[in-house]
Amino acid sequence: MQKRKLREIEVSEIGLGCMGFSHGYGAIPTEEESIRLIHKAYELGCTLFDTAEAYGPFVNEELTGKAVKPFRDKIVLTTKFVPVFQEGQEIPEGKLSKKGVTNALNDSLKRLQTDYIDIYYEHRVPQDSKVEDVAEWMGEFIKEGKIRAWGQSQSTVEQIRRAHAVTPLSAVQSEYSMMERMFEKDVIPLCKELNIGFVAFSPMAGGFLSGKYDKNTKYKGDDVRRVITRFMPENVEKNQPMLDLLNEVAAKKGATPAQISLAWMLHKNNFVVPIPGMRKVERIVENFGAANIVLTDDEFNNIEKELNKITIYGNRTDEDIHKLGTVKAIKIN
Ligand SMILES: NC(=O)c1ccc[n+]([C@@H]2O[C@H](COP(=O)([O-])OP(=O)(O)OC[C@H]3O[C@@H](n4cnc5c(N)ncnc54)[C@H](OP(=O)(O)O)[C@@H]3O)[C@@H](O)[C@H]2O)c1
Repeated sequence: MQKRKLREIEVSEIGLGCMGFSHGYGAIPTEEESIRLIHKAYELGCTLFDTAEAYGPFVNEELTGKAVKPFRDKIVLTTKFVPVFQEGQEIPEGKLSKKGVTNALNDSLKRLQTDYIDIYYEHRVPQDSKVEDVAEWMGEFIKEGKIRAWGQSQSTVEQIRRAHAVTPLSAVQSEYSMMERMFEKDVIPLCKELNIGFVAFSPMAGGFLSGKYDKNTKYKGDDVRRVITRFMPENVEKNQPMLDLLNEVAAKKGATPAQISLAWMLHKNNFVVPIPGMRKVERIVENFGAANIVLTDDEFNNIEKELNKITIYGNRTDEDIHKLGTVKAIKIN
């Protein structure tokens, strides 16, 4: 796979989101199988692996750290802290304090079996928090060598500007796919202006863009598709025009809908890096294969034109996900 830059950090143009190996999509593979899949991703050229303390909580960092250990120095390992206490983290100063975040970082380093994190994200940025304080602590962690760079997730233009003025951000990680383009209007242009990489989470819209799920598909356990409105049967049906568009382009290009949706994103901006989640070898091969699908400018412009005509029904919000009761509610923007 070709490489891209998240500011100064070089990564493969498609990364691997490791969350689903422990959290958020129902039944999980065994540890042995998860490690095999993570190794497969590395063999196929993936050098960006994403986790977070909140996934599990904690267990996804342990798994990811164990899996990438044999090639730790050859990859970019990213993790995140949340602004609310996870089990066992409680201290009087609060989670969003220098001590709270330092403790979280030290614990993530231990779980990941590493002495540095490549990009350390603030997983959600509460509206009423002082982003400058967090940015300052991140600058100190960089000087100490505990992290190479830092980022924010689902932050606003204002939060990005304020934080970046204190300690430059290397990445913003937020939801982005053909189904969810809300950040195209402000955050993505700002990232371009400030030379901040944009890491696209849920780039496959939770699998919808693969075309392999329909209104009768059932989801179990902590699978967010039980509660997010994008997967309500009536919305799945109403969003069919998106799959029709992908199927049409895919047939012409000899590719799959999933690959076309990723190729569209890769073509659009060279500082955007998608991190799909997948737990089957054939899906890893399929999604990374998108890096070989090159759209001409005409093909890309035609997709854009058609995409702009499509109305999207439903979305993926933290508020809906909290209904599952598997993650702690975070007051955000
Ligand atoms: N910063 C944040 O707040 C935040 C939030 C969410 C996620 N993330 C990060 O972003 C990563 C990706 O998010 P996501 O897991 O929601 O991404 P996603 O790729 O949009 O959705 C993952 C789901 O789509 C399915 N899928 C992916 N490719 C497929 C294909 N080719 N064919 C059929 N099904 C396919 C997966 O199936 P299987 O896994 O069952 O194979 C899984 O159920 C996470 O792992 C995490 O690291 C960050």
